[in-house]
Amino acid sequence: MALELEPGHPGVGDPAYIARREELFALCRRHRLGRLGPPLVTYTDQEQQIWREVSPQLDALHRQYASAIYLQAKDELGISAHEIPQLRHLSTHLERLSGMHLIPAEGFIPYRRFYSYIAEAGFPVTQFIRHGSRPEFTPEPDMIHDCLGHVPPLVNHDYAALLTLLGKAAVSVATGDHVLALKRLSWFSIEFGLIEEAGTTKVFGAGILSSTGEIPFSLSGGVERRPFVTDEVIATDYDASRMQELLFVIPSFQFLRREVESLVRRFGVSV
Ligand SMILES: [Fe+2]
Repeated sequence: MALELEPGHPGVGDPAYIARREELFALCRRHRLGRLGPPLVTYTDQEQQIWREVSPQLDALHRQYASAIYLQAKDELGISAHEIPQLRHLSTHLERLSGMHLIPAEGFIPYRRFYSYIAEAGFPVTQFIRHGSRPEFTPEPDMIHDCLGHVPPLVNHDYAALLTLLGKAAVSVATGDHVLALKRLSWFSIEFGLIEEAGTTKVFGAGILSSTGEIPFSLSGGVERRPFVTDEVIATDYDASRMQELLFVIPSFQFLRREVESLVRRFGVSV
């Protein structure tokens, strides 16, 4: 296995960036396969600079638009806007709060492998940063997406339980149709869900919460927002390579949990 940047990635043609990514790729892969937990990483000034540029912008948007479940969790976890967090420390902190832990991910991890970690209360998280030429954009999950999108709500017990249920279901379902249904359900909730709170639509999904462009766009007139009807959600395709023009609004977290539980039962999965 080696690092591959997809065509069009902002880091293609930058040998120093590629060398750094290869170094972190090897380190994280070794730690993941050896079950060593996240390594401590010394980040460069340039990497810290990208974090310091993007995190405060995201934080301002979170205060205004993020769901309560996310905001409470973010405050509880206390991720600094001025310094890239060490996954190793975040993992220890999470383990104390909700029993979840973080798995170092060198990059893309195949679907079943990814969810098998989640089924065991482990969340795979990258340890590299996007390319500095496009701080607002990354074509692949990076630390900004993972640490500012996915990690905070993991401190919440109910959220952690929902995620591990999805993980157990994802590794247990028997048919390709059921795999696809769970992928779409996760996409339109965990990654790109909106949620209703006291009559206001808030941002719930990590894919939106980690993008300065996607947060305002998701609540703008450019997006069609439909009520979250599970049978419709699991029949709806998505294109991960572009801004999302169709989103679903989850009536409440409890509703999402009930829907996931009933779908899992319907698929005949015992978890
Ligand atoms: Fe994600």
